[in-house]
Amino acid sequence: MPVLLGETLDFFEPIGGGLLVDCTLGLGGHAEALLKAHPTLRLIGIDRDPSALERARRRLFGFGARVSCVLGEYGDLARLLREQGVQRVSGILADLGVSSLQLDSPQRGFSFRFEGPLDMRMGESGLTAGEIVNGYTEVELERILREYGEERQARRVARAIVAAREEREIATTTELGELVRAAKRPEGRRRWGVARRDPATQVFQALRIEANRELTGLERLMGQVADMLEGDGRLVVISYHSLEDRIVKNTLRDLARGEVDEITGRTHSETRVLELLTKKPIRPTEAEIAVNPRARSARLRAARRL
Ligand SMILES: C[S@@+](CC[C@H](N)C(=O)[O-])C[C@H]1O[C@@H](n2cnc3c(N)ncnc32)[C@H](O)[C@@H]1O
Repeated sequence: MPVLLGETLDFFEPIGGGLLVDCTLGLGGHAEALLKAHPTLRLIGIDRDPSALERARRRLFGFGARVSCVLGEYGDLARLLREQGVQRVSGILADLGVSSLQLDSPQRGFSFRFEGPLDMRMGESGLTAGEIVNGYTEVELERILREYGEERQARRVARAIVAAREEREIATTTELGELVRAAKRPEGRRRWGVARRDPATQVFQALRIEANRELTGLERLMGQVADMLEGDGRLVVISYHSLEDRIVKNTLRDLARGEVDEITGRTHSETRVLELLTKKPIRPTEAEIAVNPRARSARLRAARRL
């Protein structure tokens, strides 16, 4: 079930028969709904995961030449669109994070709920989570756990990882999950009982972000969106944790404010390129979360190109 689907459709309502790029095609859920809602809309769908792209391609086959599926990273948006002969688009959608296909495949190693190799790569390049866990220094591990996992016990967990791997390589999701649970202080475990969140959650998030260079990719994407949108074009970004949302929020704020004079501190409103359509991020309703628990942390921000 695509997250915040009704809200996404509403924001794209005015684009009618334009060209939309879905930067995170995934299983093609949002894409399919948008193509159905706008019978003359054309869509370019990008994903870095070849298996997701293949699934989406089959799902969207019936829309024929209205759809192009492109393997690539959204950080390369401008280049990928140029290669399709496209300079500007009427809409950009980015539904960040992992798809249920990735999360629910044990062999992809994204989840501590299943036994699997420590992979976690969405695409085919970059380091695996196993290479990070077994290869980074204790200091590097602590840093990524703190920065990307916002893990309060980062030092303790990093130390436990390094001690364990001296005995033997940490090879699987369940090994890592157990190691983290054992390493964290009891109050962490008690909080888990109350909050119903596994203590390994943040460590897995940190490794996934590092393995996929997620924040760098998002910063690169956000640096290109305004130039890629035509006048009155729409942008919708759905993020799933505060690190992503901060990047989206800050970029949109800067683009909607215009350039700031370094000396006087005054903003030049004539340099504004976007209008914010969401003052605060839109969150899913309780009803949506009840049907789709993965929507719980979603935050949607939207903007219009001036
Ligand atoms: C939450 S899913 C998208 C689900 C989709 N909106 C749907 O309705 O089926 C996110 C997708 O983005 C892809 N992705 C994540 N980071 C990416 C990047 N840097 N470049 C391209 N695709 C990326 C993932 O492979 C995943 O398939």
